[in-house]
Amino acid sequence: MDLPSLYPKLGKNSWKILDAIFKNLWNYKYVPLNVISSFAKINEEKTRRILRALGDDRIVINKQTEYEGATLTLSGLSLYSLHLLVESGQVKAIGKKMGEGKESLVYNCLSKHGEAVIKFHRLGYQSFKKVVEKRDYGNLNFLVLSIRSAKREFSALKKLQGLAVPEAYSWEGNAVLMQLIDAEEMIKVKLKNPDEVLEAILEEVAKFYRRGVIHGDLSPFNILVNEEGFWIIDFPQSLEVGEDNWREILHRDLENLLKYFIRAYGIERDMNSVIKRIIGDSGD
Ligand SMILES: Nc1ncnc2c1ncn2[C@@H]1O[C@H](COP(=O)(O)OP(=O)(O)OP(=O)(O)O)[C@@H](O)[C@H]1O
Ligand SMILES: [Mg+2]
Repeated sequence: MDLPSLYPKLGKNSWKILDAIFKNLWNYKYVPLNVISSFAKINEEKTRRILRALGDDRIVINKQTEYEGATLTLSGLSLYSLHLLVESGQVKAIGKKMGEGKESLVYNCLSKHGEAVIKFHRLGYQSFKKVVEKRDYGNLNFLVLSIRSAKREFSALKKLQGLAVPEAYSWEGNAVLMQLIDAEEMIKVKLKNPDEVLEAILEEVAKFYRRGVIHGDLSPFNILVNEEGFWIIDFPQSLEVGEDNWREILHRDLENLLKYFIRAYGIERDMNSVIKRIIGDSGD
């Protein structure tokens, strides 16, 4: 079942229980029943009953062996993060699913800033799903990694506000609330003025660099374009200038971009002068 249909099914006590699990995710692979019960201030019998129902909807995973405990699924984490955005008044209503990336689910929503999108980070979900099921790993790592990924994206976007990126409104759990960009992925569009667009993108990458941010996954999939301009999205893999391998990663970003413009438009640029232009601009 998807998030918008699950959301209204949950009552006050269910949210308290998800809250109790969320707050203890960093301490336990499966949060023990008695810990959940005492954090939620709901007796153990009732907590167990609610956890079973949440388990049936795949919002939590219940563990019965050794000790009784529970953890969130990635859907459970997304649902709880959405709840935090709703409680804080940031999100008024969730709309349709707009995109399903490799490691994310993107929903349209109505926010206090107007129409917006919520990106739910779901790290490792596709690639490791089978391994996790087989080895009963729990999914603690995926939850924590997904939260970190959302945090990283939000903080990169915050540093880049005012440049060609969506406005970043809020971050909770694995969810980032940001401006809705009404544009198409560059890979799907035939640009009328590819030369100018490439120039402008390179200029933008230079501005990112001056603010200390390297994208880390720059590609025509992560650039949205329309008649008015372009926006660069998808920053969970971003890094700060000075972090390990930042030069290689900047190089790789530019190489991906330049290769696409050669392939799609036959536009060639010399890599060394492009790099020099970006890094050389850093003094001002
Ligand atoms: N702010 C936005 N406004 C409009 N559409 C968006 C926005 N952010 C994301 N999208 C849509 O959702 C898709 C997936 O988003 P994004 O590229 O950020 O994640 P992803 O590709 O899953 O990330 P990753 O590369 O980490 O797997 C985008 O290609 C785009 O179509
Ligand atoms: Mg993407």
